[in-house]
Amino acid sequence: MRRTIKGNVSWVGYIDWELQTFHGDDYSIMNGSSQNAYLVEEEKTVLIDTVWTPHGSKFLDNLREEVGLENIDMIIMNHGEADHSGALPDLMREIPETPIYCTANAVKSLEGQYGKNGWDLRTVKTGDSVEIGNGKKLVFVEMRMLHWPDSMATYLTGDSVLFSNDAFGQHFAVGGLFNDTADQCLLEKEAMKYYANILNPFSSFVTKKLEEISSLGLPIDVIAPSHGVIWREKPLEIVEKYAEWANAYQEDQLTIVYDTMWEGTAAIAHEIAVAATRVSPGTVVKVFNCSKADKNEIMTEIFKSRAVAVGSPTVGNDILTSVSSIVHFMRSLKFKNKKAAAFGCYGWSGESVKILKEKLADAGFLVVDESIRSMWKPNSEELASAEPLAKALLK
Ligand code: FEO
Repeated sequence: MRRTIKGNVSWVGYIDWELQTFHGDDYSIMNGSSQNAYLVEEEKTVLIDTVWTPHGSKFLDNLREEVGLENIDMIIMNHGEADHSGALPDLMREIPETPIYCTANAVKSLEGQYGKNGWDLRTVKTGDSVEIGNGKKLVFVEMRMLHWPDSMATYLTGDSVLFSNDAFGQHFAVGGLFNDTADQCLLEKEAMKYYANILNPFSSFVTKKLEEISSLGLPIDVIAPSHGVIWREKPLEIVEKYAEWANAYQEDQLTIVYDTMWEGTAAIAHEIAVAATRVSPGTVVKVFNCSKADKNEIMTEIFKSRAVAVGSPTVGNDILTSVSSIVHFMRSLKFKNKKAAAFGCYGWSGESVKILKEKLADAGFLVVDESIRSMWKPNSEELASAEPLAKALLK
């Protein structure tokens, strides 16, 4: 079935209610997802993106029924990643002569994944356009590093629809498709999680691209991304959010992340939480044991924070692997302008705090001098030093 988006634009994607992970198992999905593909039917019939391979046969059957594969005049591949290109090889077996419009980098990604198949790949750059009849055209905007080198957006004149691909998307299944039909709390949470975990490392590209799109002066009535809701009500709000998120975003929040062996480091984590609330009552404080909590949710909380405290006991002259992994992830997301402190228990050698401070500094955090390093079990004096640590982070 097709779902009308606006004018002669319809959605022909797949709502993945039961998807639990993405990018292998690296991104947790709590509220489903979707792979959005679109049909634009003017004098030319245009397919924008496809779906992931497991849903490819359903997708093709639907296109056969709705439009007839042979009636598709052109395909736009905004991005070569498998969740959007997975059904393309089967589609091209049926309509091998159909031109595919994409960036030069997408040629590399499509041929890299599916081989050189003799497809009619037509490379486009920002500002290039193709006429589709009825006075309308599709204008292409390269979206390099949002989030792959091959990423692109396509703008439909007349209806003013921006098919933004991954940008402005969320892993979020919404039966009503449009943003005004979604649970608004979950929508904001999932949009932010997507930005924090996928786009944050490319924030400088996001800022420049938003300025470039704005300078084009294109009216935008609908933003139709490749995952999650279609933004038809106040579509520019998500663009404004992106501008805010790309600019070293922070709220008044402290996130405390730790793992523990015999509860000593846990006790320090909880004491820091109490002290933080005392020294800065307006600050939202959250505590996560990183061996138990979801790492993508933790990253979203860190994204929102102005400060973090990270704790690990010393084991084997090092830190616990769970904490090492989380700090490594924090580093890869390239957070900016956030303070950090380290804490941890030890029995004899006690390197964890020093290692954590080095790792947090290397991850781009502004590490404060205050830390808590406790032998065997935190005593009352050590627990009392949670207060100066919290002040250093929050005052
Ligand atoms: Fe939704 Fe980068 O693929």
